[in-house]
Amino acid sequence: EDEKSKKWFVGSIDQGTTSSRFLIFDGEGTPVASHQIEFDNIYPESGWHEHDPEELLSSVQQCIDKATEEFLSKGHTKDQIKAVGITNQRETTVCWDADTGEPLYNAVVWPDTRTTSIVKELKARAGADELLGICGLPLSTYPSSVKLLWLYRNVDAIKNASDEGRLSFGTVDSWLIYKLNGGKEAGIHVTDSTNASRTMFMNLHTLQYDDKLLGFFGLDRNKIKLPRIVPSSDPEAYGKLASGTLKGIRITGCLGDQSAALVGQCGFSPGEAKNTYGTGCFLLYNVGEKPVISKHGLLATVAYDFGGGRKPIYALEGSIAVAGSGVKFLMNNMGFIKHSSKITELAETVKDNGGVVFVTAFSGLFAPYWIDDAKGTLFGITAHTQRGHIARATLEATCYQTKAILDAMEKDSGHKLGGLAVDGGMSNSDLTMQTQADIIGIPVDRPVMRETTALGAAIAAGFAVDIWKEFSELKEINRDDRSIFTPQIPAKKSEMLFKKWEQAVQMSKGWNV
Ligand code: G3P
Repeated sequence: EDEKSKKWFVGSIDQGTTSSRFLIFDGEGTPVASHQIEFDNIYPESGWHEHDPEELLSSVQQCIDKATEEFLSKGHTKDQIKAVGITNQRETTVCWDADTGEPLYNAVVWPDTRTTSIVKELKARAGADELLGICGLPLSTYPSSVKLLWLYRNVDAIKNASDEGRLSFGTVDSWLIYKLNGGKEAGIHVTDSTNASRTMFMNLHTLQYDDKLLGFFGLDRNKIKLPRIVPSSDPEAYGKLASGTLKGIRITGCLGDQSAALVGQCGFSPGEAKNTYGTGCFLLYNVGEKPVISKHGLLATVAYDFGGGRKPIYALEGSIAVAGSGVKFLMNNMGFIKHSSKITELAETVKDNGGVVFVTAFSGLFAPYWIDDAKGTLFGITAHTQRGHIARATLEATCYQTKAILDAMEKDSGHKLGGLAVDGGMSNSDLTMQTQADIIGIPVDRPVMRETTALGAAIAAGFAVDIWKEFSELKEINRDDRSIFTPQIPAKKSEMLFKKWEQAVQMSKGWNV
């Protein structure tokens, strides 16, 4: 068989907030094998949220081995896998010992709010109002910077490691890439610019660490080892898998998961947007080659940066902390359902929300509000209220917050979006997607293959090894049989519902007493 007639595949690691996956895609973007593992989410105290970095790594390694087994059983061979891409939950902060390669503490996960008082303190610090213009992110509990500061102040092992110059910092991509390469021996400590743009340490305009930002957080570059920032698609920078069934295969793509979903939805033109309903929900709007700093509570972020002479592309982002995690809350904490997929059935037991509004502010409220001290707040309960109403209100919360984000985006960009591409777990719910279309008043467009996040990382990896060379080659990927949900309720009604939500948001503030 000559090289040309061979069918090529790309592997994709998707390390998310509640599970890890590995998928193997063919050149048409179709997954041919996959494996998924859920791991422990640790909540040691109210507002705290941690992952065990070793467990993240082993779940990824197991997924790679299991999915590869399936791939091989279908008659394919290992040498047909040209490269591996990686995509990951963003902001989550890992610290490890550069001397031993071992973690110094659990990973502090992105929705964690233990940093509320640090954020308050930082907001009062000189220079606080300049940060947004440099890095695109407002000061909140969300970025890595404040998590790292908390760790430095509260964990002796981390402070000592820093004092002795052996503290390595990274987001989950950096940690996994470091370990998958074999750790200390290979010494590959990198991140891509999409992930780096979530730390608050990177200058959004230069894609380099910025001394003003580092100085603001009191970080000394000689005391902390920061990952080298490289393009999201690169044939060399990410090294190769050092063990397991895919040992020797190169890692050539890396994207934060929301960037990966935008790429996987082929949102390559300015003005295109996608909304991913995962653990949280994140709307990214492609703004092209120049960052747009938001005046209305959105984040400016790197959308993707494919290197090889291409300019980086930026996005405006609306981040919602709670989406699927609201459903998990109803399942795990309230015992309303036995499986997440049953939420729609429960919501359908009632004809509407019965006047119930649920501001699911479990981690404060993110975009466009940024209310750190908001708490989850349930309104409109009467003796008539059933579980179904609360289920509906939980699903609707993400839809309302999406509407608030779109309003902000319209103000920032001066454009009204014509349609919204969606994906992620909650997008499986027709009821939720119809509600979303009703509330935002524009069509919601859902692909059949919803592993768009993993696909995005595969695309980044595939570009580096020439499986694809131009974005235009991807135009047909995942276009067939998409479901379009069009708005079905009068605009007046949707406005009225949204007003109620906004009123509830106001009431959810200031509960840190
Ligand atoms: O910023 C956090 C985000 O990257 C997490 O994504 O899909 O796990 O909700 P997800």
